[in-house]
Amino acid sequence: MILEGLVTTVDESGAMHLAPMGPIVDRPDFQSLRFRPYETSQTGGHLRRTKQGVFHLSDNVELFARSAIGLPVATSSTPAESVTGFVLVSCVRAFEFEVDSIDTSRERHELTARVVKVHHRAEWIGFNRAKHAVLEAAILATRFHLLPADEIDREFDRLRTIVGKTAGPTEEHAFALLDDARRRR
Ligand SMILES: Cc1cc2nc3c(=O)[nH]c(=O)nc-3n(C[C@H](O)[C@H](O)[C@H](O)COP(=O)(O)O)c2cc1C
Repeated sequence: MILEGLVTTVDESGAMHLAPMGPIVDRPDFQSLRFRPYETSQTGGHLRRTKQGVFHLSDNVELFARSAIGLPVATSSTPAESVTGFVLVSCVRAFEFEVDSIDTSRERHELTARVVKVHHRAEWIGFNRAKHAVLEAAILATRFHLLPADEIDREFDRLRTIVGKTAGPTEEHAFALLDDARRRR
């Protein structure tokens, strides 16, 4: 199963780098994560260099939206405990991991990681359609350059209706950021 989350890695200057990623997870134990970053992904580059990172399950969709479109993200983190890295405060669970194997033979690299420490930070609040709609819009936003404009506009119209019916202020704001990025693309 693929779970969409947020990965923190450490860049060349030692600073935190944040990106949304959807690794394949083994369930129910979450002992391993299989990341599939594109060749161009900075996160993939950091993981190949440091072989460490932290994967987060979070319902803070503004973090997904901002990091998907490269807007500054001012979010608190604490130092990771078993790897060199950063654990986001705004998450439900965080998984510190070490990369055991790297396959760069395909366009989508494959990095298999072993979870070395789990943090339980909050309860899952439940399903909210607007949160899922923002997540879909964030994924589309990372593909603006690949997809036909009319297809993106149609999909945003559909997602906007869901956000209009079910969002709280955070989801409305996150969707508005993505919608602005769509208009400017
Ligand atoms: C929910 C979500 C999941 C994503 N999963 C992946 C993924 O598994 N692999 C990937 O290369 N990009 C994925 N992306 C796109 C990257 O986040 C996006 O290309 C981003 O710009 C990569 O950032 P980076 O270059 O800082 O690593 C995902 C985006 C979203 C919103």
